Amino acid sequence: MNRRISFLAGEVIRQADRDRPADALLRQVIREDRRITPDQAREISEAVFAFYRWRGWLSEDYPLAQQIVYAAKLQADFLSGERVLSDENLSRRTVPEWVGKELKVTLPWLKALQSPSKLWLRCRPGTREAVAEELGNCERVPEPADALVYTGSKDLFQTSGFRGGRFELQDVNSQRVGFTANPQPGETWWDACAGEGGKTMHLSDLMQNKGLIWASDRAEWRLKKLKQRASRAGVFNYRTVPWDGGERPPTKTRFDGILIDAPCTGMGTWQRNPHARWTTTVEDVAELATAQLALLMHAAPSLKPGGRLVYAVCTLTRRETVDVASRFERHAEGFERLVASGTDKGYLWPQNTGGNGMFIAVWRKKA
Ligand SMILES: C[S@@+](CC[C@H](N)C(=O)[O-])C[C@H]1O[C@@H](n2cnc3c(N)ncnc32)[C@H](O)[C@@H]1O
Repeated sequence: MNRRISFLAGEVIRQADRDRPADALLRQVIREDRRITPDQAREISEAVFAFYRWRGWLSEDYPLAQQIVYAAKLQADFLSGERVLSDENLSRRTVPEWVGKELKVTLPWLKALQSPSKLWLRCRPGTREAVAEELGNCERVPEPADALVYTGSKDLFQTSGFRGGRFELQDVNSQRVGFTANPQPGETWWDACAGEGGKTMHLSDLMQNKGLIWASDRAEWRLKKLKQRASRAGVFNYRTVPWDGGERPPTKTRFDGILIDAPCTGMGTWQRNPHARWTTTVEDVAELATAQLALLMHAAPSLKPGGRLVYAVCTLTRRETVDVASRFERHAEGFERLVASGTDKGYLWPQNTGGNGMFIAVWRKKA
């Protein structure tokens, strides 16, 4: 690794903390220094991510630059199969100890966490072949039908395909949330934690831009970004409205479907975002599980009889997944649980899917 790469990676690592996540800092450093080429940007990102993946193997007795180089070597050895790490070391060092109390930690999961993540694209309906041809370096997958894995090194945000709204960057398991919701053209949906609109736009595509989606979030700046993305993509069948998750819904409308893509500890993204392994705490799990149940309880009364309620989180802790779902069932009356097809009892694991870890639960409101 050349010294400039290790220096810039070190700058990111020195500044990163809970309030300034490494991935956001990386984007900032790369955006601000115009001399950094796309290949260098990739090398810096890889060095930073390797550092956090292998942090449990590094000693602070050594200078940071040496730790960065050692982490990169561990990553390369692991990927080439040269260094066979003991199962015991993987279990003890890959994630903090408290994680073992929140989910069943398995070796296949830990090995997936130590591998670089895939870059997934969701092509707009009917554009997959054109996008694959235009970008090059794309792997097709049998399903979902609109998904591609991008293996090249272009800055995708600068491509005409992205600017023309022909594809979105969206993890494959986030795409599966949209397919599980399965909204129909002409229906009325509420995307209650819409954020910057990744799933709103997928719902809209599935509805063929017909019907209406209410997109709410408590962060109004995120809804502003949603509008920019939707306009680029030519998505029009939505309206945004602020909602803080409280008892009062943002409208008296009764919905055919409600999606709660709830805030969570994000443990399902720890392969893509290894810094978060070391900044997330067990207290976050408890706090978010309470917030998740409240969101479900407060949104559920806005469903029409026969309507579908979809709960999704990109995390894998029991307290934020199956426990929230069964607490909801104990507190709310008149909902029958449906099978979230294609999942393992609601879970999508990175080692089985190549995407972020997710949990999905679906209910129908009884007539
Ligand atoms: C997992 S993200 C949503 C991602 C988004 N659905 C997408 O696909 O791009 C969770 C969102 O919940 C929002 N949020 C957090 N607490 C909330 C609350 N109490 N009420 C409403 N939204 C909330 C956050 O601002 C964040 O945008």
